[in-house]
Amino acid sequence: MAEARLSVDDLVAPLFVKEGIDAPEPVASMPGVVQHTQESLRKEVRALADLGVPAVILFGVPAAKDAVGSGASNPSGVVQTALRSLRDEVGESLVLMADDCLDEYTDHGHCGVIGANETVDNDATIERYAEIAVSQADAGADVIAPSGMMDGQVGAIRTALDIAGHHEIAVLAYSAKYASALYGPFRDAAECAPQFGDRRSYQMDPPNAREALDETALDVSEGADMVMVKPALAYLDVIAAVRGAFDVPVGAFHVSGEYSMIKAAAANGWIDGDAVALEHLTAIKRAGADFVLTYLAREVAERLNS
Ligand code: PBG
Repeated sequence: MAEARLSVDDLVAPLFVKEGIDAPEPVASMPGVVQHTQESLRKEVRALADLGVPAVILFGVPAAKDAVGSGASNPSGVVQTALRSLRDEVGESLVLMADDCLDEYTDHGHCGVIGANETVDNDATIERYAEIAVSQADAGADVIAPSGMMDGQVGAIRTALDIAGHHEIAVLAYSAKYASALYGPFRDAAECAPQFGDRRSYQMDPPNAREALDETALDVSEGADMVMVKPALAYLDVIAAVRGAFDVPVGAFHVSGEYSMIKAAAANGWIDGDAVALEHLTAIKRAGADFVLTYLAREVAERLNS
């Protein structure tokens, strides 16, 4: 009789893969999460596929960074290499999503190319996102997920994918991504903290919910196949509003800070971490999400399967 139910089918596992390391490196602020080598990534994705987790989303940590994030669109870049290897490992049994952004690849840590006055140049940036998308699709990605919140990014990516013959590749837009303090641990994991300023010129202002519908409408009109709200728990009202207003699948990103808060409180014995994890993810489903990107994917899948 439960109105909402969490199943393994709802989970997307975010994974980090780092160039130039011999062994996986733990992320201190995210207990249980590592920066993978190509080899350990392959094993992890095999385990996720065997558990029935339907999709993963990849974030790359390159060995070298520059002003325009060249590594992000390199055909032999860290994510492109991973995509080829994972396709070989799992075939069509698991959906491979690739985050399309520049912050992990730029020396300044911003999600775009820097123009005048230390601000991100929106239009130069979406050209880069389009190049990244094509290189990821060439390498075998099924879904391209632009996370930089630049205006026009979905349209630019859709056009570039179509021109390159990748008509069947889907776009998952991070449509309502807030300038949140909950991304802190991710910036350790992806080594992408901005070196100056912050991301408030491109990410959304937390007090705004109606604006999320505007942002989502633009992405859908530009060709987004799926949309996303991020973070999740503090924005359940936004998930519900987006679910009500649009007919495309809606995802929610249960972000690094949300994960780490559970782990830290559980480690102190202050909460039952396993129970809170299930409660949080089920609440995100109840709010209207069709799928949840969460670092809890593997452990929750193991529990739901047992
Ligand atoms: C940017 C990006 C970020 C996250 C996903 N994509 C970080 C940011 O905007 O600073 C955050 C994910 C998380 O906190 O788990 N490419």
